[in-house]
Amino acid sequence: MGKVFICDHPLIQHKLTYIRDQNTKTKDFRELVDEVATLMAYEITRDIPLESIEVKTPVATTQGKVIAGRMLGLIPILRAGLGMVEGILNLIPAAKVGHIGLYRDPETLQPVEYYVKLPTDVQQRELIVIDPMLATGGSANAAIDVLKKRGCTQIKLMCLIAAPEGVQSVQNAHPDIDIYVAAIDDCLNDHGYIVPGLGDAGDRLFGTK
Ligand code: PRP
Ligand code: URA
Repeated sequence: MGKVFICDHPLIQHKLTYIRDQNTKTKDFRELVDEVATLMAYEITRDIPLESIEVKTPVATTQGKVIAGRMLGLIPILRAGLGMVEGILNLIPAAKVGHIGLYRDPETLQPVEYYVKLPTDVQQRELIVIDPMLATGGSANAAIDVLKKRGCTQIKLMCLIAAPEGVQSVQNAHPDIDIYVAAIDDCLNDHGYIVPGLGDAGDRLFGTK
């Protein structure tokens, strides 16, 4: 069974509260999501292997540690996943970015795929699927399906807020995937929105409502 990591650093929790606030306007919402994505990237890269290299300081020669040439890929689920990409690239600028376009049918809540563009060497990369919201889990599961069908095996999922239903659904469908979240909320409402959540992440990021 995949593990669930709750990124409960005080800075993340502080910013998440203002992200949730309905009075937070688009510009601030976008900046806060970006900042939390950077902070969460610290957690999600915690297990990246290091290797030793020799380094000459002005005083002596010593051994230093550097990241061991890992090939990373960020896979935002459109639209809302886009809001977290730059924040992660701040820490991992060499990562390639692939896009998976999915929207949730408002009636059935089922994900509808409309766009996929991935790095050509995607199956060799360690991938982080990014989406602020893990509600029913349908979108995350569909995105992970897309990647696994292309031969990808090293995949993590990173979300701001998850519903318990979404976590359960991903664990059932993809028991090999670790999930990183800033919070697990109470439940879903009748429209499939996370309660208390933050509302519609895509609309709040892009000002479309
Ligand atoms: C939202 C969100 C997730 C999905 C989560 O996207 O960004 O992708 O819903 O719900 P689920 O876990 O029940 O699938 P939405 O479909 O609203 O599209 P958007 O990002 O383009 O606004
Ligand atoms: N998608 C969102 O943007 N918000 C939710 O609460 C659920 C799905």
